[in-house]
Amino acid sequence: MTTEPSPGFNDATIAARGGWAPDFVTRPSAPPIYMTTAFDIEDLGQLEDITTGAQTGYIYTRDGNPNHEAFAADIAALEGAELGVVTASGMGAITALLMATLKAGDHVVAGRVLYGRTGQLLNHLAASFGIEVTFVDIADLTAVQTAIKSTTKLCIAESLSNPLVEVTDLPGLARVLGDVPLLVDNTFATPCLLKPITHGATYVWHSASKYLNGHGDVMLGVLVGPRLAMRKVRAMSSLYGLNSNPFESWLGSRGLRTLPLRMERVSKTAQSVANALSQHRVIERVYYPGLPTHLTFELAQRLLPHGCGGMLAFDLAGGRTAVDHFFRKLGETIPFSPTLADARTTLSYPAGTSHKFITAAERAAYGIGDGLVRLSIGLEDAGDLIRELQQALVQ
Ligand SMILES: Cc1ncc(COP(=O)(O)O)c(C=O)c1O
Repeated sequence: MTTEPSPGFNDATIAARGGWAPDFVTRPSAPPIYMTTAFDIEDLGQLEDITTGAQTGYIYTRDGNPNHEAFAADIAALEGAELGVVTASGMGAITALLMATLKAGDHVVAGRVLYGRTGQLLNHLAASFGIEVTFVDIADLTAVQTAIKSTTKLCIAESLSNPLVEVTDLPGLARVLGDVPLLVDNTFATPCLLKPITHGATYVWHSASKYLNGHGDVMLGVLVGPRLAMRKVRAMSSLYGLNSNPFESWLGSRGLRTLPLRMERVSKTAQSVANALSQHRVIERVYYPGLPTHLTFELAQRLLPHGCGGMLAFDLAGGRTAVDHFFRKLGETIPFSPTLADARTTLSYPAGTSHKFITAAERAAYGIGDGLVRLSIGLEDAGDLIRELQQALVQ
């Protein structure tokens, strides 16, 4: 491509065809962003070759784009999967998989304490599309086994649960599931700490808006799994218009470069914060799988030997009023923000955000009380964080 418009063209033609860089022989050191709706095709033979896969190429960004592919391929490599699909959000990723693998009459077994919107999506599919869903305590392997039917096509679990950070016994779960494919939400753990496919999962999905990107500035999702299934998922993602845009995929790839360092760092800091909070008199209980008092401490030792990640939760004595007071005291230093895995530490209130869409009775049954606070540990200095939290806890 040349920057020189042909001589003699009028302003409208020069302007309409503008913006191209000259041909050059060196490669950019950072990956370019392919911010384009479509790709120009040489001739009908090339169209045929790209469509059949005989030649690598792209046609239309909803169907595929180099920035999507780069990000998805890196996550597939990290998770040990054959292929990946990148979507506009984590919810887009699970939607694409459900659309690709389920039909009316099929049955799904799902953990009863999934991310709130995952449960809501499954309830919606059950109410409107004839998919049967059984919610079970995913830690109760007998209950999982009992729930399986001849029509069961999928089991859905989280590697680390939200918000109580319980570790799922993935090897045990895969064993009782037998041939039933297992989909694992690995958003909290990331492949740096836990690789569900090595423990028997079939598919892994992420809200890449979280740790994979890690800077709190994108909406992005990704799903990885076997090649054939992922091809169907790609087709569904295109059909339902779930694809991400190139810039956000590029931001995902840029964030990914520091993922191992960030996961190591947040795991260490979260452990220190959990230890410190456990000593505090106004805190009734701390939920962090690196604490010996945590329900799944032993599983964590086995499945997460390199650290338990940056998510932790705690029950504040005094319930909702105490939480409100604590949040206001922290003000802008540790903000109340309904996301997680930002570079800075953030707080969330599960009863009013991620688990707002279930009933109060269900929340109580799942251990999500009115005094429960979730902390997403960032990259700050551990000592500074502990001091700020302790100051805000003084009543
Ligand atoms: C554990 C978990 N899974 C999935 C999602 C959904 O991802 P997204 O918000 O990118 O659609 C979230 C969102 O917060 C989440 O926390």
